[in-house]
Amino acid sequence: MADTDGPTTGELTPPDRTLMGPGPSDVHPRVLRAMSTPLVGHLDPAFVEIMDEVQELLRYAFRTENEWTIPVSGTGSAAMEAAIGNVVEPGDTVLVPTNGYFGGRMASMARRAGGGVVEVEAPWGEPLDPDAVADALATHDPDVFGFIHAETSTGVRQPAVPELTAAAHDHDALVIADCVTSIGGVELRVDDWGIDVAYAGPQKCLSCPPGASPLTLSDEAMEKVLSREEEVRSWYLDLSLLEGYWGEERSYHHTAPVSNVYALREALRLVAEEGIEARWERHERIAGALKAGVEGMGLEMNAPDDYWLPSLNAVRVPDGVEDGEVCAELLDRYDLEIASGLGDLEGEIFRIGCMGHSARPENVIYVVTALGDVLESMGADVDPDAGVAATRRALR
Ligand SMILES: Cc1ncc(COP(=O)(O)O)c(C=O)c1O
Repeated sequence: MADTDGPTTGELTPPDRTLMGPGPSDVHPRVLRAMSTPLVGHLDPAFVEIMDEVQELLRYAFRTENEWTIPVSGTGSAAMEAAIGNVVEPGDTVLVPTNGYFGGRMASMARRAGGGVVEVEAPWGEPLDPDAVADALATHDPDVFGFIHAETSTGVRQPAVPELTAAAHDHDALVIADCVTSIGGVELRVDDWGIDVAYAGPQKCLSCPPGASPLTLSDEAMEKVLSREEEVRSWYLDLSLLEGYWGEERSYHHTAPVSNVYALREALRLVAEEGIEARWERHERIAGALKAGVEGMGLEMNAPDDYWLPSLNAVRVPDGVEDGEVCAELLDRYDLEIASGLGDLEGEIFRIGCMGHSARPENVIYVVTALGDVLESMGADVDPDAGVAATRRALR
């Protein structure tokens, strides 16, 4: 090969997987089509109109009237860092949970933003107890309280959100909610529940490729951001600068990920067409059939019904099998992605997503059939036929 020849690679042919893991989920064909439409400039009047539409559609999905509602360029962690990095000022006290992987990430980001981190404790696999949150608020008097609405690492939905936000507001703390795995799939009401700042991801229940991630801030939260004494440590995610692009002015800050914004618009249009409440109901119904199937074959859910998270089903790994081997076998034999546990639950649970376009009857029949087959072939004590029968009954 001459020096100037480029590396030789084949045409891109990723395997055709069924995505039932913790995200990304299967993308709706309309969203994929939207991504392949021609680019316009990020300041083109046509794009400015698209930006307005995306903002309006995001408000609908978040259930908010917040003017400050935007897609942040980057993955869910970018929206998370934008939320925390702007709202937390050096010297602030930030109260975060210990009950999962993403609470830990929240703590790490808050520390990097110059905050002093204090914790409200709960075991992995359980939600926060409102009394424990009230005690922690009284003890630490934090400036900011962050929690994870849908903990992807444990399959736990945080119930009693209005109780938590009311307690935080009694102490004049702003509330940041991680809604990455709840937006568009699980009941979420930013305004009614008194959440000051919410961030999310597009690749879970919105079934959109990662790359532009939802964020919303109340006027009060934005007031704090705009009156900071010290500038935000990240230039890229500084909302006082991004205001120039997403606010009235529409002037250049950075080049928006145009195709991702197209994709998000289409994904959010699908949400609006279905109706947000009907969509929450669909996730609960379809994930309920998945849950019936795994329980029917003899497996156990990790979370009790009170805080079961339909978009992420944590299923106990049965005796005699190794979770990683089961996931690898599902990928190999069925082109099916599910995930194993993380952190404190490593080796103990499977994480089976039921998100957005993946939350369909055919997908849950498939995952219950494939999981039962693989577990039985590996010697686990399961009854695959009873599992499939239970899923079919639940779908009727
Ligand atoms: C609850 C939660 N928060 C934050 C993130 C970070 O999102 P991303 O991986 O898109 O950066 C994830 C991703 O899985 C998540 O599940």
